[in-house]
Amino acid sequence: MKNNNTDMMRILTGDRPTGPLHLGHYVGSLKNRVLLQDRYDMFIIIADVQALTTNYINVDRIKNDVREVCLDYLSVGINPKKTTIFIQSQIPEIAELTIFYSMLVKISFLKHNPTIKTEALEKGVENNLSYGFLGYPVSQAADITFCKANLVPVGEDQIPHIEQTREIVRRFNKLYGPVLVEPKALVGEVPRLVGLDGKLKMSKSYNNALFLKDSPEIVKKKVFSAVTDPARIHPNDPGHPEICTVFAYHNAFNEKEVLEIEQSCKKGTIRCIDCKNNLTNIINSFLAPIQEKRNTFEKHQDLIIDILKTGTKQAKNIAKKTVVEVKQAMQLDYFG
Ligand code: TRP
Repeated sequence: MKNNNTDMMRILTGDRPTGPLHLGHYVGSLKNRVLLQDRYDMFIIIADVQALTTNYINVDRIKNDVREVCLDYLSVGINPKKTTIFIQSQIPEIAELTIFYSMLVKISFLKHNPTIKTEALEKGVENNLSYGFLGYPVSQAADITFCKANLVPVGEDQIPHIEQTREIVRRFNKLYGPVLVEPKALVGEVPRLVGLDGKLKMSKSYNNALFLKDSPEIVKKKVFSAVTDPARIHPNDPGHPEICTVFAYHNAFNEKEVLEIEQSCKKGTIRCIDCKNNLTNIINSFLAPIQEKRNTFEKHQDLIIDILKTGTKQAKNIAKKTVVEVKQAMQLDYFG
């Protein structure tokens, strides 16, 4: 069990459990989390309630997706002795805080949130948004503030939500007293990885993702399907690595050879097929130890449940304390 170190700055971050994690998650957040867990008191929320914004009809998938996400965390090296991993829906205090915060938020402000707008458009619900979907940034503010997180490592698309959280904290503290901590967003260096289609960011819902659990054969198939520079018709045509998906992956995963590949692509001295074969090997050797770890954990399902249970209990203890303070500040404390 993790020893909560009160001297350390606290981090909270998380994911919606909507399926297995992919290379985009690795580059954009997981890699950073593994490093940060040594220097910060880290909390990771598996946001199953937030997943309901879009998946409330297919609830039968959520339980398995929570398990998959936890498996992915553990297999990339997130260490439950250093990091508290917990499940959002099992902490009712988060829902309680959400209700209190919702009084401080204007609907017009939520409607202008660019990330909500984009997600609603993508799901085709821009004209009939649910109350829960429109309001999930308020619930996310509760995710972040229940543990008084100082930092929230996220992708760029999450910045409006962190701004919303900061706004809620400022209003709350001004109205009721200094209880909450105003968090800062921490945006990673490589915020997004392009998908296999070469156009959109890598995402399960765009069907352009290479998953951490993909087998070597699937990796090969996917790498060979990746969109490359359309100007390279003959093997020695000069290439444009800056628009090539395969090059983007070399850039993210093949630090050793990336400069050489860039030069030979520009000169037309490396064939796309060789470049793809090389990348397949690089990705497969990157994934091998991750998958080995995944297989070990997969054989011990009870261990995963244990990790989630312990993490959730730890998070809940902290949430309880914050709710007491919040209710006291709001004068909703009646019985001592
Ligand atoms: N909104 C985040 C996403 O879609 C997931 C999330 C939920 C989150 N609660 C959070 C991220 C709190 C950071 C902090 O990826």
